Amino acid sequence: METVVSGIRSTGKLHLGNYYGAVQNFVKMQHEYNCFFFIADYHSLTTHPTPENLHGNVKQVLIEYLAAGIDPERATIYVQSDVPQIAELYLYLNMNAYLGELERSASFKDKVRAHPDNVNAGLLTYPVLMAADIIIHKATKVPVGKDQEQHLEMARTFGNRFNRLYKTEYFPEPYAFSFSDKLVKVPGLDGKGKMGKSEGEGNAVYLSDSEEVIRKKVMRAVSDSGPTEEDQEKPEAIQNLFDLMKIVSTEDTFMHFDSLYNKCQIRYGDFKKQLAEDMVIATAPMRERINEIAADTSYLRKVSQLGAEKARESASKTIKEVREIIGFKHF
Ligand code: ADP
Ligand code: TRP
Repeated sequence: METVVSGIRSTGKLHLGNYYGAVQNFVKMQHEYNCFFFIADYHSLTTHPTPENLHGNVKQVLIEYLAAGIDPERATIYVQSDVPQIAELYLYLNMNAYLGELERSASFKDKVRAHPDNVNAGLLTYPVLMAADIIIHKATKVPVGKDQEQHLEMARTFGNRFNRLYKTEYFPEPYAFSFSDKLVKVPGLDGKGKMGKSEGEGNAVYLSDSEEVIRKKVMRAVSDSGPTEEDQEKPEAIQNLFDLMKIVSTEDTFMHFDSLYNKCQIRYGDFKKQLAEDMVIATAPMRERINEIAADTSYLRKVSQLGAEKARESASKTIKEVREIIGFKHF
């Protein structure tokens, strides 16, 4: 059976982009594959190095994984820092990762632009750690959103380079995966670009947002004064809202508003109200479970201990073999 690995950085609550880009696929994949889903707390240190909220953020992602329907009996759910073998593999891969290729990564360039005061080595080697996360379990499928495609390409590069260097076929190639024909990109509510935690208040709808908060955010979403010509191309802000509707609403609802837009008869108030209600419905089962699960500390402990054991078992087998391949020997 093919192995699947994916993770989300523990930087806070999950939004609809995380859900539709990643977690929804996790939930479906657990029935078909050998799955490892983790909480990337080592990765969170590259940008969020504060002890005060580190554990709280890890806990939040764990709760939301479970609330979304990942079943700890089917999939291995674990916290990255519970598996130090990942850090060891990262060290080995770093020896063959080159400055030039790391500097060319789009996400690195974005981070440098956004935070020129915090260009640390962890940020530079972020894709190496991500490659270690994936190949430590010899995964071939990685459910992620569109923004992670380049990181997957780098993971293949590092795995293949290891294979070539040591004349082995030890690591298989991992590829980004989505059940839809394309990798998903969920737009934000601010009229430009994707939904993301760092894009500012009001851009993202969180799985844990209350119904009122969802309605308020959607009603305030950026739009325009309306179409002026029949069948005109939609400007980005409007296209984004339609893209969101395509994700959370039924096909009929989408077609209804799309045709009103094309006839210049759309009323954005009604359109947004419908979009908000469909987001409320889509998130309702999770919203309820989040509170239940959050209250059950002993369940969270059990899940994380079970996951850590299973993940360490798989990772230490790889590390043992990698050490042999590299040539470390005992006297
Ligand atoms: P954020 O961008 O909010 O910081 P992360 O970078 O931690 O979120 O992303 C975790 C996962 O969620 C990745 O698989 C990523 O591809 C996916 N993801 C994040 N935002 C979106 C989005 N707007 N559309 C699709 N997938 C997304
Ligand atoms: N880089 C991913 C993100 O920002 C998170 C991540 C870390 C990841 N390691 C991974 C995703 C391994 C998939 C597989 O979203």
